[in-house]
Amino acid sequence: MPTKRQSFFSCASSLISCFLFFIILLCKPAISANNEVSLLFSWLHMSASPPSSFFSNWNMLDSNPCNWSSISCSPKGFVTEINTFSIPLEFSLPSNLSSFRFLRKLVVSDANLTGTVPGDIGNCSSLTVIDFSVNNLIGSIPASIGNLQNLQRLILNSNQFSGGIPVELSNCISLKSLVLYSNKLGGVIPPVLGKLSRLEVLRVGANVDITGKIPDELGNCTNLTQLRLSLTSISGSLPASLGQRQKLRNLSIYSTMISGEIPSAIGNWSEILHLYLHKNSLSGSIPSELGKLQKLQTLLLLDNSLFGAIPEEIGNCTSLKFIEFSLNS
Ligand SMILES: *[C@@H]1O[C@H](CO)[C@@H](O)[C@H](O)[C@H]1NC(C)=O
Ligand SMILES: *[C@@H]1O[C@H](CO)[C@@H](O)[C@H](O)[C@H]1NC(C)=O
Ligand SMILES: *[C@@H]1O[C@H](CO)[C@@H](O)[C@H](O)[C@H]1NC(C)=O
Ligand SMILES: *[C@@H]1O[C@H](CO)[C@@H](O)[C@H](O)[C@H]1NC(C)=O
Ligand SMILES: *[C@@H]1O[C@H](CO)[C@@H](O)[C@H](O)[C@H]1NC(C)=O
Ligand SMILES: *[C@@H]1O[C@H](CO)[C@@H](O)[C@H](O)[C@H]1NC(C)=O
Ligand SMILES: *[C@@H]1O[C@H](CO)[C@@H](O)[C@H](O)[C@H]1NC(C)=O
Ligand SMILES: *[C@@H]1O[C@H](CO)[C@@H](O)[C@H](O)[C@H]1NC(C)=O
Ligand SMILES: *[C@@H]1O[C@H](CO)[C@@H](O)[C@H](O)[C@H]1NC(C)=O
Repeated sequence: MPTKRQSFFSCASSLISCFLFFIILLCKPAISANNEVSLLFSWLHMSASPPSSFFSNWNMLDSNPCNWSSISCSPKGFVTEINTFSIPLEFSLPSNLSSFRFLRKLVVSDANLTGTVPGDIGNCSSLTVIDFSVNNLIGSIPASIGNLQNLQRLILNSNQFSGGIPVELSNCISLKSLVLYSNKLGGVIPPVLGKLSRLEVLRVGANVDITGKIPDELGNCTNLTQLRLSLTSISGSLPASLGQRQKLRNLSIYSTMISGEIPSAIGNWSEILHLYLHKNSLSGSIPSELGKLQKLQTLLLLDNSLFGAIPEEIGNCTSLKFIEFSLNS
């Protein structure tokens, strides 16, 4: 290997090698400043089978990946978005996610992705959206995601994730949507999620091993519009604290083990459209406060242990389209 001194002499002796020497000096910083090209390119070629023609403009020789399909960049040429939907990839996520320091949006949905979510995702501190929905991802949801203070949407539904819902997610103070349905998650819904004051959508349904109660603390999420916990093994009663959540539009808690009475506080849900509480062990009478729900379109209470008359106030729910009470006592 020539030293700098030798290079200097070769410059002096040959105009051509001098030219090459300066070209190398000029190019090298550009390559090391943006290794995102090589990382993305090697990710796409991870599998033995050729990548989809959708990625034909992913050219290894480009100085940055900003013109590539599915990629968006900052003005300085760093990747801010990786966004693919319904394009088969059939391999794992890039193992070097933390190298994408300016990544804001990471959407790889319906791609048949395999493998686990790398823990270093928690180092991409600019992330606002993670959407890995409808893939074959396994393993646990990395606790490091709790480091992402800007994260607004964490969408992981329809995968094979196992383990618990990490309590660390309660540190994602910007989170508005936490969507985890149709996985193999277990354990409880962490009560600390009640710290997520901006949470609007919480969907944990179709995870049969989710157990425990619906945390009272969720009543602290003032902007909650959707709470969907169906097809889980949650038990206990519907927390009265939810009665304060006047923005609720969808409450879907069917086919679970919840019991106890329907709290009269539901009369506060003035925005509710859909109320699915069928196939549970709810008891007591049907609260007449339901009659206050002017926007209610769907009311499913069948297959519980409710008793008594159907309150005539329900006739005041002028928007009702679907109503079902059968198979109660
Ligand atoms: C991206 O495309 C634009 C317009 O087609 C072009 O001007 C620019 O040089 C391209 N950039 C790269 C890095 O290829
Ligand atoms: C990317 O990940 C691979 C495999 O984990 C590793 O060998 C490589 O050094 C990493 N590259 C960078 C730039 O971090
Ligand atoms: C997903 O990939 C697996 C193999 O990894 C394959 O058997 C399956 O058919 C693929 N599914 C879709 C919807 O492409
Ligand atoms: C992620 O950040 C932590 C804490 O700043 C650091 O210790 C770790 O080395 C980082 N990991 C990667 C892969 O950059
Ligand atoms: C709740 O939503 C309203 C209206 O979208 C918004 O102004 C307010 O900041 C939100 N509250 C929190 C705690 O995010
Ligand atoms: C949230 O709700 C619980 C019970 O409903 C309450 O004890 C707690 O003080 C509230 N505040 C926070 C920040 O969790
Ligand atoms: C409410 O839930 C139903 C059934 O799951 C769904 O079709 C509908 O889009 C949801 N509506 C809103 C406003 O979230
Ligand atoms: C209904 O909401 C109001 C306003 O938030 C609250 O003061 C009241 O306690 C709620 N009612 C019930 C029964 O929770
Ligand atoms: C609802 O219906 C009941 C009985 O049908 C009636 O007495 C009451 O005034 C109605 N209005 C409200 C707002 O509950």
